[in-house]
Amino acid sequence: MEKIESLTLKEKASLLVGNKPMASLAIPEKGVEEVTMSDGPNGLRIENLDGDSLSNVSKAKPATCFPVGVTLASTWNLELANKMGSAIGEEAIHYGINVVLGPAVNIQRNPLCGRNFEYLSEDPLVAGKIGAELVKGIQSNGVGACVKHFACNSNEKYRYIGDSLVDERALNEIYLKPFEIITRESDPRAIMTAYNQVNGAFCSENHYLIEEKLRNSWGFSGLVMTDWGGIVHRDIALQNGLDLEMPGMNDFNIKVLYDAVKNGSLKEETLDKSVERLIDLKERTRIKERKEADFKAHYDLALKIALEGAVLLKNENNLLPLSKENKYLVIGGLFDSMKYQGGGSSLLNPMIIKNHKDAFKEKGINYDFVMGYFENELNPDEKLELEALEKAKEYDTIIFYGGLNDYVESEGFDRDDMKLPSNQLSLLNKLTELGKKIVVVIFNGAPIEVPFANDVNAILDMMLPGEAGGEATTMLLFGETSPSGKLAQTWAINYEDIPFANEYVSNPYELYKESIFVGYRYFETINKEVRYPFGYGLSYTSFKYSDLKVDLQKDGILATFKIKNIGSFEGKEIAQLYITKSDSSVVRPTLELKGFNKVNLKPNEEKTAQIFVSFDSLKVYSIDSFKLEEGTYLISVGSSSKDLYLKQQVSIKGEELKKTLNDDIYTLYLKTLEMSKETFEKVISYKIPEYKFDSRPYTLETPIGEFNTFFGKIFRKYATNIGLKKYKKAKKIKDPLIREREKKGGIFVAKVMPNNSIRSLTFSSSGLFPYNLAEGILELSNGHFFKGVGKMFKKYKIKE
Ligand code: BGC
Repeated sequence: MEKIESLTLKEKASLLVGNKPMASLAIPEKGVEEVTMSDGPNGLRIENLDGDSLSNVSKAKPATCFPVGVTLASTWNLELANKMGSAIGEEAIHYGINVVLGPAVNIQRNPLCGRNFEYLSEDPLVAGKIGAELVKGIQSNGVGACVKHFACNSNEKYRYIGDSLVDERALNEIYLKPFEIITRESDPRAIMTAYNQVNGAFCSENHYLIEEKLRNSWGFSGLVMTDWGGIVHRDIALQNGLDLEMPGMNDFNIKVLYDAVKNGSLKEETLDKSVERLIDLKERTRIKERKEADFKAHYDLALKIALEGAVLLKNENNLLPLSKENKYLVIGGLFDSMKYQGGGSSLLNPMIIKNHKDAFKEKGINYDFVMGYFENELNPDEKLELEALEKAKEYDTIIFYGGLNDYVESEGFDRDDMKLPSNQLSLLNKLTELGKKIVVVIFNGAPIEVPFANDVNAILDMMLPGEAGGEATTMLLFGETSPSGKLAQTWAINYEDIPFANEYVSNPYELYKESIFVGYRYFETINKEVRYPFGYGLSYTSFKYSDLKVDLQKDGILATFKIKNIGSFEGKEIAQLYITKSDSSVVRPTLELKGFNKVNLKPNEEKTAQIFVSFDSLKVYSIDSFKLEEGTYLISVGSSSKDLYLKQQVSIKGEELKKTLNDDIYTLYLKTLEMSKETFEKVISYKIPEYKFDSRPYTLETPIGEFNTFFGKIFRKYATNIGLKKYKKAKKIKDPLIREREKKGGIFVAKVMPNNSIRSLTFSSSGLFPYNLAEGILELSNGHFFKGVGKMFKKYKIKE
């Protein structure tokens, strides 16, 4: 490439270390332009490209706040995902952004992961298919998508330093699968590596992930960038296929690259290749013409997705939809203050917002409101409870708005438990004793325990519905349209039902002992009762399935069947196809989703639906590659993983698979549900190190929360106070919408800090906390005063 030849070594090294919180370096005199970026994934958050990326959400340019990942995934609607991607792409063009940081497609391994709301599903097919459509949509505008976080970022605590230990089969069949599907189907322009390590190597320098899988096996042709601050050894990362460090803005890593070439440990051609990919990314995403986006149309699209993503979990005696003729008592801080997006880097400034009150007013709903509990508190408030209980006596039907607030669910930390905040639970329990009809509307990013499920009449799960959340909720409650979403994750009865529940994030080594038995793959195989199964969701109408035919074709199998709307409401049904291979020589889940199809049906209408399953997607990862096992497969079609109405067997040609030691280990595991660390070490062929909390001397990788020496404590307090200060300042903001958003930002920073390492903090700080200062503080914290002060003044400049 001509441009590369004109660049000096220093320029090339500088190009591979970001230059602004949301952009790469430009060298105009050499014709190299900057690549501009924006979060992601459910809309754009564009702050001043030169400013701190998370400091001032309210000043971010307004953009459409689409429903978050988990809500989009429960639509199971590929067309809507594509449209949402396309709308985000249009807004990127509107604002001059080359690359959108999304979609986020990690597997929802455990319901407590604070970031589940951004992710799509516990199932790799749903995550992969929805993710691929988002990418296709975004890129249809010429803008690039950056799929994140590659890979195994299924917990927030320890995300900066932790190591996800996963066996090769689970890695390939479950955790990498969404990335593989997306890469093969939609050719994303970029991939973002996760902060954490996978099997002993940080994702940003993980050869297996980046070179073996992404580039060589799946044919990825784009650029690989770090998550913000997710770099450890800049030169080793480059050698293992990582192109761009973000946000960069540090001289230290530029020098690392420069010196490595100079001393011969890094080939200049390797550097050139990455620079070429960066220049190529700009070429492929250059905005030819800025066009105005139609934000009103995007609001309508956000509404459509929120409507289709909501899941009706319970509807006893068809209490829903409610009639507009009656008057209702509405209870809940979450009615007063709508929860519609998650906290952390995805937090954005919505262009248009319609909250519950606006929507009730617009649609002429006759209601009375009592707060009952404060949305942003956790403990019961006796006065509010009494007032709500008194008022409730006057009404026949109560609508209770509840869910998870930002104190319990956000990027940056994991939930402590699977419960609703105790103020909500306490009030709900008392309300259920009054013998009234109760509708519970839930706002959440991940499954919750619903011990009250049998005592209320209806439960509508809106998840995090985006800027049109108020209108969507009202339309569904009052029957302007029927719910048609289905859960893309299992709702266990109790958190303890989740595999290895009590071991989750107990230390930085996260042992994926359950292997491929994630979500319904686990519950179905061991036949354990759940609250709401994967793929489940009710409607205001009902459907009848019939006439399944399964045809063998050249590349796969085609299932054809009929679905009829046998109720009196127009509605959509998501038909799901699962396979079972009971005579397999390897251990397998009882059910695996292999396809789905959403159809719209008027009352009494019947349609023929089809689902195609390629032979490729029937393969299992056996020993070292995906293989198609020959023999009989049972094909089941129905409305959830539990409600499978049509079944047919089909015989498929393939190969015989060899049983391994791991098959024996997991056959036994499914019986005992136990696995020792030693057995798991055999599964992954890796000796798991012991983690010592508060071990000294501290290193750049020690979590800030563990700093306990004299200077260490001062530093820890200072760092953790940044978020608290931001939060306190935010509390004084007059505008309630801005106040809530800024508070969320403060909570996120405060909670994320103790898990951060000094290394990750310096590299994510956009130059505010330079490397020399980080090294100096580390020395001080280890009691080396003079060395510390000396390091603080060290300069990392390249001498040419
Ligand atoms: C998040 C990424 C995000 C980046 C930039 C990180 O903390 O993990 O998902 O894209 O920040 O805001």
